Amino acid sequence: MKKDKKVLKLGVLGLGEGRSIISAALQSKDWELGMICDLNEALCKERCEEFNFDKYTLSYQDMLQDETIDVIGIYTPDQLHAKHIMMALEAGKHVICTKPLMITLDEANTLLEVQKRTGKLVFVGQSSRYFEPAKRQREDYEKGLHGELTTVETHYITDARWFLEKGWSHQKGFSWMYNFMIHAVDLAVWYLPEIEEVYGLGVISENTKERNLSVTDTMTFLLKNKDSRYATVKGYYATPTLGSAVEQSISCTLRGTKGVSRAGYPKLKYYTNFAPVEKTAKLQTFDDLHDYYFRFENESHHAGEYQNYIEDFARCFREGVTPKPDLKEGIRTLAIAEAMEISMRENRAVKVQEILDRRGIQL
Ligand SMILES: NC(=O)c1ccc[n+]([C@@H]2O[C@H](COP(=O)([O-])OP(=O)(O)OC[C@H]3O[C@@H](n4cnc5c(N)ncnc54)[C@H](O)[C@@H]3O)[C@@H](O)[C@H]2O)c1
Repeated sequence: MKKDKKVLKLGVLGLGEGRSIISAALQSKDWELGMICDLNEALCKERCEEFNFDKYTLSYQDMLQDETIDVIGIYTPDQLHAKHIMMALEAGKHVICTKPLMITLDEANTLLEVQKRTGKLVFVGQSSRYFEPAKRQREDYEKGLHGELTTVETHYITDARWFLEKGWSHQKGFSWMYNFMIHAVDLAVWYLPEIEEVYGLGVISENTKERNLSVTDTMTFLLKNKDSRYATVKGYYATPTLGSAVEQSISCTLRGTKGVSRAGYPKLKYYTNFAPVEKTAKLQTFDDLHDYYFRFENESHHAGEYQNYIEDFARCFREGVTPKPDLKEGIRTLAIAEAMEISMRENRAVKVQEILDRRGIQL
C-alpha cells in the first residue's frame, strides 16, 4: 500500500446516493473528485450543475481506464455491487462500496481471490457507524465507560414503502434484510464481533404482499456471541412507525456493568448514563452539526457520514492501516445475514460457521 500520497482521487459510480460522496470529496482536503459516472445522462448533467463539476461519463469502463483515479466509490443498485467491485479491483483501483457489500455470498470467494491478487483495499461504507452519536458512543465504549458490555440492542425501523417505487426493488435479489437491516446487523456485530449463532422470526405483511413482493418486512433476531453475550436486532419496513421523535429509525443501545448508552439517527440524539449513574440518562444533541450531516433537501442522503468515512479511509491509507469494515469483515456480516434469513425460513437456530462451511469460505 502506498502511504505517501496526500490526496486520493475519487471516481463515483451511481449518482443517486453517490451525490453524498461527491459532496464529501469536494469538501475534503484529502480527496479530489476525478470523475462521476451514471448510465443516466440527465442525472450526470444534474450532478455536474449541482456541484459545478464537468467530468462525467456514461461508461464505467471509461472511468476505470483513467489512470489518475485511485479509488472508485460504488453507489449502484445492490444487485450490481459484486460485479462493480470486481471490475474496479481488476482495473487496479481501491474500492469504497456502499452497503450492502453484496446481496449473496455467491461471489465471496472470487472477490477474496481478486482482492488478494490485486492487493487493493475494499472498504464497506456502513454509514451507521459514522453519524455523530454513533461515533461518540464508540469513543465512550473504547474508554470503558460502559464497563463490561453485557448486551446490545439495535434496530432499523422505518416505513420504507416509498423505496418500492425504485425499479430495482422488484428485481431478483432485493430484500429488506440486505438493503436496510444490514445497518442494524453491522452495528451489533461492531460490538459483538464473534457472533456464532442466530435465531429469528419474520413476517411478510399484507402491505408488501399487495405489491406482489414476498420479502420479509418485519423481523426480530437474537444474535449469540461466542462468549454467550447476545444482541437483539429488529427491523420493520412496510408498516407505519411511531416517528423518529418517539422511536429513532436507527438505534444502538449498549448495556454494560457500569453504564448504558443509546445512539440514534436521524435525530442525532445520544443518551448516556455512566458513573455516577443517575435515575435519568443525560441527553446530548448535536444541533450545531445538523447542516454538516444533512446537506440536501428533506434531510435526505448521508453526506456527513460519508465525509467521516472518506476522511477515515484517507487517514488509514496514509498510515498504512486497513480501513474497516473491510472485505473479510463485510463477508462475515453477510454470512450472519444469510444465517438470519435461513433461521426465519426454517424456524431454527443457525450457526454462522454452517454458512461459511457450506460455501467453502475461509476468512
Ligand atoms: N446509508 C447508506 O449508506 C445508503 C443510503 C441510501 C442508499 N445506499 C445504497 O446506495 C446504492 C444506490 O442507492 P440509490 O438510492 O442511490 O439508488 P438509485 O436507483 O437512486 O441510484 C442508482 C444509480 O445507479 C445508476 N446505475 C445503475 N447501473 C449502472 C451502471 N452499470 N453504470 C453506471 N451507473 C449505473 C442508475 O442509473 C442510478 O442513477 C444502493 O446500494 C443503496 O443500498 C446507501
